[in-house]
Amino acid sequence: MKKDVRVAPSILASDFSRLGEEVQAVSKAGADFIHIDVMDGHFVPNITVGPSVIKAIRSHSDLPFDVHLMISPVDPYVEAFAEAGSDMLTAHPEAGPHLHRTIQLIKKHESRAGVSLNPSTPAEAIGPVLGDVDLILVMSVNPGFGGQMFLHSSLAKIAAVRKMIDAGDRDIDLAVDGGITTETAPLVAEAGADMLVAGTAVFQGGPEKYQENIKALRESAR
Ligand code: DX5
Ligand code: ZN
Repeated sequence: MKKDVRVAPSILASDFSRLGEEVQAVSKAGADFIHIDVMDGHFVPNITVGPSVIKAIRSHSDLPFDVHLMISPVDPYVEAFAEAGSDMLTAHPEAGPHLHRTIQLIKKHESRAGVSLNPSTPAEAIGPVLGDVDLILVMSVNPGFGGQMFLHSSLAKIAAVRKMIDAGDRDIDLAVDGGITTETAPLVAEAGADMLVAGTAVFQGGPEKYQENIKALRESAR
């Protein structure tokens, strides 16, 4: 069942020199999750943060940390990311040969487990693990950078994933990540997404705008 739309600001678009304050500000401004993009310069053409940064910002928010792992391999780092304070760990099926094993490992470390689908990965890729995942994160840009254009081809995939989720009886969040604005949020919500990951659209204008930006996204998706 689709839930009310929740907003997960991606701190990739925040001011990294003041990361703790940014996480606090966006938490106070009405965010539902903190989305943290982990990139390794190998699985994606960019490098961001590791477990020590997650640990450092953990005390700055009570919100769940939704950690998006764009790294390959994933398995050797699951424990460190879980122990740093992640509540949800999301991996890409292309990042390793054994997606099911990765999901089991994430759960063993008491984190919720997510799977993310690249724009070129079909919805069907999650079929075999639907009974195990807590979150499906549909990428609406190619992962690696914030501020990219929304890919409209993701809409059909969101609708297909929504059908798969609703055909079962498990509580699975359906998130969309990349190019989410007040123009694209209604489209993804209509297609069946119930969680919006947004970097640029939340952090634009600085801290005094966060509350307004989050509210605008939430309302546009209603
Ligand atoms: C892209 C990341 C996204 C990104 C979204 O690889 O997974 O979370 O930060 O940024 P915007 O909202 O600016 O497209
Ligand atoms: Zn992300």
